[in-house]
This record gives sequence, structure tokens and C-alpha cells, in this order.
Amino acid sequence: MEALKDGKVNMIGVWGMGGVGKTTLVKEVGKKTKELGCFRKVIEVVVSQKSIIENIQYKIADFLDLEFKKKTKEGRAEELWLRLKNEEKVLIILDDMWNEVHLKDIGIPLNENGKGCKIILTTRLLKVCESMECQVFVPIDVLDDDEAWTLFRMKANLNERVSRDILEEAEKVAKECKGLPVAIVTLATALESTKTRKGWEVARKKLESSRLVEIGNIGEEEKNAYLCIKMSYEHLKKETNQKCFLLCALYPEDHSINVEDLVRYAWCLELFGKADSIEEVRIQVLGAIDYLKDSSLLLKDGDGDGARYGP
Ligand SMILES: Nc1ncnc2c1ncn2[C@@H]1O[C@H](COP(=O)(O)OP(=O)(O)OP(=O)(O)O)[C@@H](O)[C@H]1O
Ligand SMILES: [Mg+2]
Repeated sequence: MEALKDGKVNMIGVWGMGGVGKTTLVKEVGKKTKELGCFRKVIEVVVSQKSIIENIQYKIADFLDLEFKKKTKEGRAEELWLRLKNEEKVLIILDDMWNEVHLKDIGIPLNENGKGCKIILTTRLLKVCESMECQVFVPIDVLDDDEAWTLFRMKANLNERVSRDILEEAEKVAKECKGLPVAIVTLATALESTKTRKGWEVARKKLESSRLVEIGNIGEEEKNAYLCIKMSYEHLKKETNQKCFLLCALYPEDHSINVEDLVRYAWCLELFGKADSIEEVRIQVLGAIDYLKDSSLLLKDGDGDGARYGP
């Protein structure tokens, strides 16, 4: 927040491993700074692995209600540049960057004498912060033991009425998440209904044994997140919920999922078996989406039925 107020700082890089809370943090920062009046406009753009300049241009233009007249990438960059360079107090959040992009190619003018834009970018890769010439780096680390346990208890509903021996066993499970928020949130929510010490012990043993399984070409920390999410997935009680989650997982991360599209896919793929009407499928999809949101496997998107594929 301090860096954002600093007139000399235009480019801030938030860097940390997958699931550590970068998107959550910058969304909160965007909201707070707007409330405090530090910025008039806060434009959030999910960049993701296929950082295509055209997509970023259209997302920003959409926010600004700007209709491009030019057809080429360069033409659009010029239109965007002309529009943004006289705007005051604009913050652009470029979330989930994997490669360097040239702001000029997009059409983003950096802040100069109070006009133009400030940028916060998030990335898993330090080299992206470096190549984008961030003036301030904000490394995000995993939660410490106390924070992790507090979050786990909250999500698993382990309140003060829960007995000591259950808490002891649950704490061991929480430690398996290694302080990673995405692992804590999904696992704790999945195990919320576990009410006995034995139940928690079974969960811990299952996690420990699945650690021995090889999964693809990924590092130890990422493996940890995958295992916790896998266990949450296995805890989804009904097959319809699991199928719906797998369908959502085909969307890019942080992509807004149109529920009506899901209904149509599910209907055409006969995801839930043969149904007499699309209305029947819609009821199943809406039920599954609610369940997945409650299980922290999907994120809420806006105020309505919308969902985002998060973990
Ligand atoms: N400080 C926090 N308190 C509670 N929950 C959190 C916190 N930080 C993150 N989470 C939860 O952890 C999950 C992952 O967070 P988020 O999507 O922000 O991670 P990320 O760093 O952006 O991951 P990625 O690199 O995959 O984009 C979300 O479900 C989010 O709600
Ligand atoms: Mg993210």
C-alpha cells in the first residue's frame, strides 16, 4: 500500500509460488485502494500462460468502454495509449504473468506527473518481475505455523468446543499443508465434517501415504498443493460434483465460468447420464456449483451464480 502511494513507484511485482495468495492479495489491495480514493479506476486483467497482447488490450478496453476503431495490434495500442495517458489515478493489475510483455505494445502509458497508470503484476517467476523492471518486489511466503493453524481451524470449523485430542490430530493434518493457503483452505473445508479423532488420523495417514506417489514433473511444494486438492476432490460426496469440477478444470485458471455454458456442455456430454430436459441438467449443475464453492474448489465470481476456477 505504501509503495502504491509513492509517486516514484509505477511498477510493483508480487511474486510467490502457486496457491500462496497472490491473486487474493492484489484483489484486496485493488478494493482497498479504490475505497480509500487512491485510484479512480482499478482494472484487473488475468494474463495467464498464453499472455496474448490482443487479449489484454481487449480486456482493458472493455473495462474502459472503449471500442477499438483500428484492426491491428499496433493501432489498438495507440488508441489505448491515447485514452489512458490523460487518465488520472488508474491502477492496472496484471495477474498471473508468465512472460515479459512490453507495456508499449499493449498501449499502457506509465504514470507521469499524476497521469497514466500504475501497475501491480503477480507472477510465480522472479525473472518476470526482473524483466518487467519492477521498482518494488513483494515476495509472498507461505503462512507461518500459527497463521496456518488459525486458517485451518476456521475453515474446518474446529472451534473451542472441539476436544483436545481431536485438535491434536487435526493439527498434524494441518501441518501437512506446509502453510500453503490453497492447500489449507481446500483440505480443511473437505474435512469439516470429520468429527472423530480416528477420522482425522485416517486423513493424515492417507495424505502421508499419497506423498510417496510420483506426480508428473513438479516440485515438492507444488506436489503438496496437488495432494491436498486431490483429497478435497475425493471428499466430494457425489459423482455429479466431481464431474462438474472436472468440467470446470478445463477452463483456464481465474476464468469466469458462465453457468449456462456449463449446463449446455453437461447436457450435450450427458455428463450426468441421460436427462429428460435441459432444466433437469441445470438443477444438477447449479447444485454442484454451490457445493463446489462451499468446498472451496471453485471461487465465487460476482454476486450471482457465477464461478471461477480457482485452485
Ligand atoms: N491470506 C489468506 N487467507 C485465507 N485464504 C487465503 C489467503 N490467501 C489465499 N487464500 C486462499 O487460497 C487460495 C489460493 O489463493 P490465490 O488464488 O490467491 O493464490 P495465487 O498465489 O494467486 O495462486 P496462483 O499462482 O495459482 O495464481 C484461494 O482459495 C484463496 O481464497
Ligand atoms: Mg493467482
